[in-house]
Amino acid sequence: MTVDPYEQHKYAATLNRLPARRFRRILDVGCSKGTFTYLAARAYPDAEVIGVDTSERALHRARVRSGHLRPAPRFLLLDMLTQAPAGLFDLVFCSEVLYYWGRESRLRQEVSSWQASWNPAGLSCSCTPGRTRGRSTGPSR
Ligand SMILES: C[S@@+](CC[C@H](N)C(=O)[O-])C[C@H]1O[C@@H](n2cnc3c(N)ncnc32)[C@H](O)[C@@H]1O
Repeated sequence: MTVDPYEQHKYAATLNRLPARRFRRILDVGCSKGTFTYLAARAYPDAEVIGVDTSERALHRARVRSGHLRPAPRFLLLDMLTQAPAGLFDLVFCSEVLYYWGRESRLRQEVSSWQASWNPAGLSCSCTPGRTRGRSTGPSR
């Protein structure tokens, strides 16, 4: 898998910052070609891992990339602004997606609609490019 140094750092830093605990269901919002989904599935082989994206082309690449993993992550064509995957997740990863969703008021509204997917005892982890200090990543409750 070819991943540029920034992306490599981002995924590694994200996984390294997660607490040492078991995750049963992991959701990767806006997974694109599934790089983090793949790494999360390898790091948490006991978890059910699902990646969602609005691009079928990206999801196809994601399925090809992760198809050999057992269990393999699942990839769903789904618009998180209007739909949510069934069930609750105890880790929701959302990397470089929020800026697709526009202004703050709309962003709040949209995020609250998919917060329904979060297990209240779970973690969400978002990563977005920053203006002054490069890019940041990290988990939050
Ligand atoms: C910049 S890429 C980030 C990919 C990946 N998360 C990463 O960090 O490498 C943003 C992805 O979010 C997806 N996306 C944007 N809005 C979405 C939505 N409403 N629902 C699902 N996916 C969305 C896009 O199709 C795109 O693949």
